[in-house]
Amino acid sequence: DIPSLAETFADDFPIGAAIEPFQTEGPKAELLKKHVNWLVAENVMKPDAIQPSEGTFKWTNADRIVAFAKENGMALRFHTLVWHSQVGAWFFKDAEGRPMADETDPAKREANKKLLLERLDAHVRTIVDRYKDDIASWDVVNEVIEPADPDGMRASDWYNIAGTDFIATAFRAAREAGGPDIKLYINDYGTDNPRKRDLLYELVKRLLDEGVPIDGVGHQTHIDVHGPSVDAIIASMRKFAELGLDNIVTELDMSVYAWNDRRDFGADIPEDVIELQAKRYGELFRAFRDNKAILSGVVFWGIADDHTWLNGFPVKRTNAPLLFDRNDQAKPAFWSVIGIS
Ligand code: XIL
Repeated sequence: DIPSLAETFADDFPIGAAIEPFQTEGPKAELLKKHVNWLVAENVMKPDAIQPSEGTFKWTNADRIVAFAKENGMALRFHTLVWHSQVGAWFFKDAEGRPMADETDPAKREANKKLLLERLDAHVRTIVDRYKDDIASWDVVNEVIEPADPDGMRASDWYNIAGTDFIATAFRAAREAGGPDIKLYINDYGTDNPRKRDLLYELVKRLLDEGVPIDGVGHQTHIDVHGPSVDAIIASMRKFAELGLDNIVTELDMSVYAWNDRRDFGADIPEDVIELQAKRYGELFRAFRDNKAILSGVVFWGIADDHTWLNGFPVKRTNAPLLFDRNDQAKPAFWSVIGIS
């Protein structure tokens, strides 16, 4: 019988996993119950899943994950109230059904912005109100920084129509609906990259100065066996901690390929790559534990290698980014993480 991941880190921080509702039954449910004490929905709490059309809320799939967590004494995170991806196109259409982003008339643009922020406010309040007693940790906005876009802000429909007001609106609505006890996060990937980190820092600092209720930064931490460095990951957390913010590793996985590598190892990942992965996972968790004062949890984006978004992204190839293999068996990376002292 192998040790439990969550128990191993019980004095440090919770260990989480992103799951789909079907994984709340069968062997995966057992693996999850043993190793994690925190859950997040991989897809079913995203905007398009919860409110596919205006005023129609779909709770069934999200509720399954909430019920499974409660039955097993696991905490939950919510991912995500706002995103540019996996969001219904209806949000961004005006009363006549035209894309708001195409509008050129200033008065109509202003009216569109107001309508979009009203829709956003209703979306956030309805969801937070439903889950506020079950979910304490919330991704309010996801991936709003893009260094290559003007102002370093992702040129999404949200930003193009409403500027940064959509961020302030979402956080304020979440706080008002959820009260002081829920924790509100701004979530992004590549937060180790100094340029992106500093853009995020400046945005968050300005919003905090304006009284926007942000509690912490979610660092997705989709990394690979070659980079980024553990030091760069921790340095980013330190920087946000200086603002009095919490940090969470929200979507951890470690691809066995560099981003631009277009090979496909198939089911037989080379031994040296698996060993490199184990070494790096161990270094990472050692740093996480050493910095637990500024890091309040670690969530994996999946649990075992048979089900991971990286098997299909950025290209279709067999990946192995997690601690358990395609047969739910502990990998060298698992033992490396367990073995840090
Ligand atoms: C991914 C899911 O894992 C996939 O199943 C889905 O097809 C696309 O989204 N950053 C995020 C997550 O914030 O929501 C993404 O999840 C992975 C990257």
